[in-house]
Amino acid sequence: MRQKIVAGNWKMNNGKGETKNLITELQEEIKDLTLDNTRVIIAPSFINLESAVTQTEDTKIEVVAQNMHQAKNGAYTGEVSADMLKSVGIRTVIIGHSERRAIFKESDEILAEKVNAALANGLEVIFCFGEKLEERKTDNHLLEVGSQLRNSILHIAAEDWSKVILAYEPVWAIGTGETASPEQAQEMHAFIRNVIAKKYTQEIADNLSILYGGSVKPANAKEIFSKPDVDGGLIGGASLKAVDFSSIIKAI
Ligand code: PGA
Repeated sequence: MRQKIVAGNWKMNNGKGETKNLITELQEEIKDLTLDNTRVIIAPSFINLESAVTQTEDTKIEVVAQNMHQAKNGAYTGEVSADMLKSVGIRTVIIGHSERRAIFKESDEILAEKVNAALANGLEVIFCFGEKLEERKTDNHLLEVGSQLRNSILHIAAEDWSKVILAYEPVWAIGTGETASPEQAQEMHAFIRNVIAKKYTQEIADNLSILYGGSVKPANAKEIFSKPDVDGGLIGGASLKAVDFSSIIKAI
């Protein structure tokens, strides 16, 4: 069954103490919510994953990683492997965030390798993609998203889709305060679901959670989440405040 998901991408924010405090506050905000078929996810930095996993045991909060390297191990200074993530209790990893693509030059080919490595290691993948402003302005957004999907994830086996969450994040909406309209999000999400249905099966497409990301805030979350093909959100800035993140969770 398709799940609703609200995921907070903390990016390079929050040291050890801040991580602990934010989790404590978030837990306090959401502990009495009935979250039927709804997952609450946070993605702290690598260095705080283990403590966050321990702190969130027996809570409704799941801890995931923001990235991983595709190699099993070896001479990759500064990188973290799937095995390392699993060794501290991580079961899900974000791959392909637009900041990884733009700042760290991760290509579609590299992202395809990361997707393969994560799935082969039994990790669930939150796969991010989305068009740039220029592509939106020139009406090439569907083409661009179709190509990002084709180049990095549409090769996986049908059975692996139960271990994938997609996150559509138009680059022009990330951290800019500008959000896709609920109609723009719905158009894209329906398009994505259709791509999956055509390449795989309608059942796989129907069971797939597709999140929207890009300046989701307490004020706009409900409207975006009300669209039939939007199954939740990947939240950056607003996930750094427990009250804001929890009110987005309540909007799902
Ligand atoms: P934002 O970030 O909510 O701050 O726009 C979203 C993201 O990068 O996942």
